[in-house]
Amino acid sequence: MIAAPAESWGRDGGATHPGYAEPVRIDVVTIFPEFFAVLDVSLLGKARQSGALDIRVHDLREFTHDRHRTVDDTPSGGGAGMVMKPEPWGEALDAILTDGSIVIFPTPAGELFTQSRARDLSTREHLVFCCGRYEGIDQRVIDHTRSRAEVLELSLGDYVLNGGEVAAMAMIEAAGRLVPGVVGNPESLVEESHEDGLLEYPSYTKPAVWRGLETPAVLLSGNHAAIAAWRREQQYERTKRMRPELLPPAGDAL
Ligand code: ADE
Repeated sequence: MIAAPAESWGRDGGATHPGYAEPVRIDVVTIFPEFFAVLDVSLLGKARQSGALDIRVHDLREFTHDRHRTVDDTPSGGGAGMVMKPEPWGEALDAILTDGSIVIFPTPAGELFTQSRARDLSTREHLVFCCGRYEGIDQRVIDHTRSRAEVLELSLGDYVLNGGEVAAMAMIEAAGRLVPGVVGNPESLVEESHEDGLLEYPSYTKPAVWRGLETPAVLLSGNHAAIAAWRREQQYERTKRMRPELLPPAGDAL
């Protein structure tokens, strides 16, 4: 592997991750490395410290050679906005790609990012996120990268963000929390929205009555079978109300 440049912004790899396999390595290329300061907060921050996740953030401008550190140019064929130049991306990917890399280009024109894709990414050894800005990255960067690595163009949803950074953050968090050792109690990952194709049931804690609103009696009954049945029913009810398209056609088993 070719080492990342010294200017890389993030912690050095090499921390140990006791009891688990190799850390998942995640490289991010962006013109706004400061966006990713949140990776030091909360569970992902702890996972970086423990060595479960080896995350390195790179400033794309480090791979330019002109005085203005230019990363964009006018679109070929005309039109509004600017397009990201291929040369800095090519050099950045030359420095970062390894044999086991999967390269992700967040884009509203990509395939929808789902929990099942997050699960898939959490099993990979090396994720590389390329965060585009402006009208996007010159298409040849994506085509050329496809000739030497697995490439995914992924969309967070049917809306447009100002760039790939927020989308990459969401994908890193969704996949990173599924890496063994990142979330302390793995059982908490099982009963979550989207893990079994349904939305999660509603949760309650003490006090049993708050501002005149009661916790459903079944949850205080101690009857575990009844609680499980109630939760399942709530999952169906909520999914039907909020996201009916997630339910299988009537008659099909889930
Ligand atoms: N970049 C801009 N909008 C986006 C979206 N919806 N998903 C992923 N990347 C994006």
